[in-house]
Amino acid sequence: MKNSDTTAHYKALDDAYYMPAFSRSMAIVRGKGSTVWDGEGKEYLDLVAGIAVCSTGHCNPTVVAAICEQAHELIHCSNLYYVPHQGEMAKKIVEITGMKKAFFANSGAEASDGALKLARVRTGKKKFVAFTHGFHGRTIGSLAVTHKPAAREPFEPLGLPATFVEYGNLDATKKAVDSDTAAVIVEPIQGEAGVIIPPEGFLEGVREICDKAGALMIVDEVQTGMGRTGKWLAIRHTKAEPDIVTLAKGIASGFPMGALVARDGLEFQKGEHGSTFAGGPLACAAGLATIRVLEGILPDVARKGERFKKGLAKYNPRVRGLMIGISVGEKCPAVQAECLKNGVIVNCAADGNLRLVPPLVISDAEIDRAVKVIDGALGKVVL
Ligand SMILES: Cc1ncc(COP(=O)(O)O)c(C=O)c1O
Repeated sequence: MKNSDTTAHYKALDDAYYMPAFSRSMAIVRGKGSTVWDGEGKEYLDLVAGIAVCSTGHCNPTVVAAICEQAHELIHCSNLYYVPHQGEMAKKIVEITGMKKAFFANSGAEASDGALKLARVRTGKKKFVAFTHGFHGRTIGSLAVTHKPAAREPFEPLGLPATFVEYGNLDATKKAVDSDTAAVIVEPIQGEAGVIIPPEGFLEGVREICDKAGALMIVDEVQTGMGRTGKWLAIRHTKAEPDIVTLAKGIASGFPMGALVARDGLEFQKGEHGSTFAGGPLACAAGLATIRVLEGILPDVARKGERFKKGLAKYNPRVRGLMIGISVGEKCPAVQAECLKNGVIVNCAADGNLRLVPPLVISDAEIDRAVKVIDGALGKVVL
């Protein structure tokens, strides 16, 4: 496979050999910073960033160097041995999240699974409460707490009994949580739903309900975490203190990695959980380099979000750092197509919500260019 391969080349192989689980029509073959190139060499400003993953920019040189250097030393050794960079990465993740201990996974869904297992094994309780339009992954465990009926129902029955309550509704949450609830799992801002920010006090209210019932609070920061909203965790915009936090996406700049972090006294015991590849040397090297880069960018993320907000103000964007949603409705795909035509990649999340989750390294000039194109597209297609 060469970077010069055309979209037609990718499509022909995909049609012939790959299970058709996705709808896609474009190949991205190269990336640098906030820019990507398609199979025909056309350049785009990327406001999707591999769905909130490539926060340090595509192929960030610090991350690339860390992966290459580690690849020359040791690619894999398994968890039978101490793993290069694993302890340092755990220390860093614990420090930036304000939690106590970390455990690694290979993806967001696996981080969710780990969190659900930890909640069950430490509380001895069976049930979970999750929220409408919430997304936690597609493994059998994480799917059980993912709301989207079209994604979940064909695979039922799933192993975990879960009740879904309206996101933002504390009365409904209180009714659903009882003495056999192991945990409530909640996104601090719903990402796949289209960047839905809950009402003020909601997450603190969930904390209180969990405390009263003896349930744990799992905060899924797979999409919102690692600086996306201008803080290392989106829950830090509130006063709620989670028991378990899950991370993935932006944690290692696109190298597959997930993590769960838990408060003091909450941890797996020997033999309770594990995975051959999770927290391997390459992932941890990529994660550490990613955090180093993010430490330099984080102070500027909120300001960059405000720049988007000002530029798109007439569309009432929902903005928290560089996680931005705009209600567009059924014309969202047409807006996406118009932006693409003009060299800007955006994404339609659920329910006609335009979602922007650009690399956190995006420059002011790039933001201004993006705003101009999005404004033009919304003006042409929607207004
Ligand atoms: C909030 C949230 N949790 C979990 C996941 C699952 O992550 P992954 O696709 O890495 O399994 C996602 C993915 O979009 C997500 O947005």
